[in-house]
Amino acid sequence: MGQCESHTLTDKDKNLIRDSFAVMKKDMKGYGIRFFMEFFEQYPSYQQLFPAFADVPLSEVKDNAKFKAHAITVMYGLSSVISALDDPEVQEAMITKIARQHITRKVVQDDYRKLAEVIGKVVATVFNEETTAAWFKGYECFDELARKAVA
Ligand code: HEM
Repeated sequence: MGQCESHTLTDKDKNLIRDSFAVMKKDMKGYGIRFFMEFFEQYPSYQQLFPAFADVPLSEVKDNAKFKAHAITVMYGLSSVISALDDPEVQEAMITKIARQHITRKVVQDDYRKLAEVIGKVVATVFNEETTAAWFKGYECFDELARKAVA
């Protein structure tokens, strides 16, 4: 996310993000489900944004096809953004698309931050502090570009 102004990701940061994501990629579905289960546990009101499973009890949500579909989609979104770490224009285009796809769903900037914090917490349980810090730095760039997209 070289193009963001607030934080510059170093080559080392980018490699830490790439290497840790390569591990997650082996289980996209598992990580996606884990991130969103924790997200809904911490912020139950977000489940209401998804008409397809708004009223499904949390204990059953992880088996819901539309829940899994969004969780996996988010992982592929992350994968695309990470694969373009050295190509700021492509990355900006991807982040713009993600941000715009959510406007009509009433997803705002602060919601991505909450998800990023949940993802960061999970990352911290699997990877070291340096890797976790690189993810948070990466998120600050995502935030900056997503803000620009909806401004
Ligand atoms: C970087 C993180 C995310 C990515 C890559 C992502 C990706 C996507 C994509 C590709 C779609 C389908 C869009 C379409 O069909 O037009 C979608 C739908 C949606 N997203 Fe996300 N999303 C992310 C984060 C979030 C967050 C934080 C929320 C907040 C709760 C959220 C809530 C939704 C909702 C409510 C829908 C509509 C689902 C439906 O209509 O069934 N997303 N997302």
